[in-house]
Amino acid sequence: MPQQGTTEERSLAHWAEEGRAGMEAFYALATEDYRQMVAARDWAADLRGHARDTTTTVLDVACGSGKFPAELQRRGLATAVGDLRVEIDLLDPSSFSLAEARSVLAAPFAVRAEHEVRIQDLPAEVGDFDVAWATHALYAVPPTEIGAGIARMVAAQRPGGFGAIVHAAPASHYLRFADAYRGTFAPDAVPFTSSEQVREALVAAGVEPAVATIRYDVGHPDRRVVEGFLQRCVFDDSIPLERMETEGAVGEYLAGRQGDDGYRFTQVVDVITWERPT
Ligand SMILES: C[S@@+](CC[C@H](N)C(=O)[O-])C[C@H]1O[C@@H](n2cnc3c(N)ncnc32)[C@H](O)[C@@H]1O
Repeated sequence: MPQQGTTEERSLAHWAEEGRAGMEAFYALATEDYRQMVAARDWAADLRGHARDTTTTVLDVACGSGKFPAELQRRGLATAVGDLRVEIDLLDPSSFSLAEARSVLAAPFAVRAEHEVRIQDLPAEVGDFDVAWATHALYAVPPTEIGAGIARMVAAQRPGGFGAIVHAAPASHYLRFADAYRGTFAPDAVPFTSSEQVREALVAAGVEPAVATIRYDVGHPDRRVVEGFLQRCVFDDSIPLERMETEGAVGEYLAGRQGDDGYRFTQVVDVITWERPT
């Protein structure tokens, strides 16, 4: 798999059938992200509270493999929303991600459309959504383009519509590891976008975001699974764990994260929500 290109290009290369094994190693640990964010608020109330008649329309930005709606389903969303129909548009530049997300969706979700584009490039005529969310989704959008991406996401909401972005804070494993990786192995790589940059972009787009921060640890006893997780965190599967453990800032970062039962990584994640002004 190519290790060259911008972070966004390497992300796209990994969100493909050839990247399936890495994706599975990643979610051996990252499934916890979705358990935590679904437990963090009453998403059924958000969907019900922004319905029009018996339907809520949702734009799932950077839908990936659909872990967020799948966890909502697993935690009983269909019962919690009663007879509400949730019509969902999937957005992702990866056709692999769109197909994966579609394959896991079940009631109360009904897929209405797919948009195989970057959020920055979503055509202006797509909009009027009751809800738009992006969950652990915008790291690879370059910091120089996150403003345009978020402005497009907010513009796609109807006035009074609900928005949510779940995104790691600078103190989180995802951003600390990506930073250490750049410093050690890829000084020219485009940095990941942080939750602070997301919040600034939301304010610039004219909304008042509310933030709830959640903290939890993820880990796995199997070193090969941890290796796959770490490689996928930075979209680079060319560097074995043994090298990561001995070189530069990545080695220093990993040295502090060994527990009795293998590696443990701390996630600090902002659940950012808003309503588009009417
Ligand atoms: C970690 S996944 C998101 C997880 C997802 N929200 C879920 O519930 O499983 C990240 C996704 O972002 C997509 N992506 C990368 N750059 C993007 C961009 N500029 N706009 C929209 N999506 C992008 C990738 O193709 C990938 O499918």
